[in-house]
Amino acid sequence: MAKARSSFYCTECGNETLKWQGKCPACGAWNTIVEQPAMEGKKKAAAVSSGLGARSPRPMAEVEAVDELRFNTGMSELDRVLGGGAVKGSLVLVGGAPGIGKSTLMLQICDNLCRFSDVLYVSGEESERQIKLRAQRLGIREERLYLYSETNLDDIVAAVQAKKPDILIVDSIQTIYNGDSSSSPGSVAQVKECTMALMHLAKGIGVTVFVVGHINKEGSLAGPKVLEHMVDCVLHFEGEEHNSYRILRAAKNRFGATNEIGVFEMGDQGLAEVPNPSEAMLSGRPENMPGSCVTCVMEGVRPVLAEVQALLSPSAYGNSRRTSNGFDYNRAMMMLAVLEKRGGLALSGCDFYVNVIGGLTLDEPAADLALIVALASSFRDKPVPFDLAAIGEVGLTGELRSINAVNQRLSEIRRLGFTKCLVPARSSGKIIAPAGLNLIRVGNIREAVAMLV
Ligand code: TYD
Ligand code: MG
Repeated sequence: MAKARSSFYCTECGNETLKWQGKCPACGAWNTIVEQPAMEGKKKAAAVSSGLGARSPRPMAEVEAVDELRFNTGMSELDRVLGGGAVKGSLVLVGGAPGIGKSTLMLQICDNLCRFSDVLYVSGEESERQIKLRAQRLGIREERLYLYSETNLDDIVAAVQAKKPDILIVDSIQTIYNGDSSSSPGSVAQVKECTMALMHLAKGIGVTVFVVGHINKEGSLAGPKVLEHMVDCVLHFEGEEHNSYRILRAAKNRFGATNEIGVFEMGDQGLAEVPNPSEAMLSGRPENMPGSCVTCVMEGVRPVLAEVQALLSPSAYGNSRRTSNGFDYNRAMMMLAVLEKRGGLALSGCDFYVNVIGGLTLDEPAADLALIVALASSFRDKPVPFDLAAIGEVGLTGELRSINAVNQRLSEIRRLGFTKCLVPARSSGKIIAPAGLNLIRVGNIREAVAMLV
């Protein structure tokens, strides 16, 4: 018999190759190819996971299309990210770094889900006793919640088929293994096969599945970008180690938009929802300190205020250091160049640090002006007025360009107590200033800088 050959997978994109290579030919990532020993049970596994059963093509007119059934998870921040509640029979992948609070979030939604459905919580990481202790501490209701500490996929599938829960939670996909496959738990092939089997359960018997997945330090689901195209929703749970705020965002959602975020705070009683993120993002803002400016970004349909901080200091050694945390690096570099050239500040020879407080990631051009103001304020060592915010996109000639949803942003800025706001002088829509908010219209960054610092 010919020796079974191993295959090689890229852990970034899941691309399969015949031999090991330093660089993945598909996604171009370096050092991400891992070996998978040959799988004897491959045929069987493929049969299990072949999808939705043998069917033939149907005329579209005959396909009955009722709206998908949604239910609330009891956490409105999570419901928002899912597009208005979880969809029955869908598979949601919740990814995040270890310790961020994925298990806590899953356990907390059980409290509400158990009120109207049977929930099976499968953990491959903790014993039933451990889960119960945590659940008691979090005050989770016990009726209709079933715990199962198991890692074997066949046993889990059998339990689901026997118990027929409405909701299945699997924590985490990397600990589950398929005994028919010879690769080790957590490997790309295993993670793929187990997810397929769970997807099959979701679509087959209509159980809603939440799957927890760990993310490796590069930020991709370990084993798994491959999972992203299989599942219905991919949620990323993010946060900084030393910050209690957690942000849940959708990277993919077959049943809704992906631009909403949910904000939580981790405390003694587990995760608490933060219905008013702007307040949270601005808490502890320093008064009368140079290098800080508040802006307003749109997270989905919700305006959220964010504090942009910048620090410029003379470089100690020939090469200057430039880092950006929470603000797109290339965009930040562009702002630095525009401020130097069009704003007339001699910034070269400075170390440059940018930070966005609270774990938000700003990827909207509307935040440009706030960064320019924060940079200029740090450079001149003059604080920006505490009650001033800035919104506007900055172009390469230093001109300020109009942005969308201006009025919504201005209302939020006013609601949080600001009395002045820098806005682009030319605007495509009509700007209506809320009462008590003084608009300062500026045409370009030179004007903005001259006016403030
Ligand atoms: P956990 O949900 O176990 O993380 P994950 O499943 O994503 O790995 O969360 C663990 C962290 O959360 C741990 O560092 C302690 C913290 N935590 C609290 O601060 N308060 C709580 O009530 C709970 C349950 C956890
Ligand atoms: Mg966990």
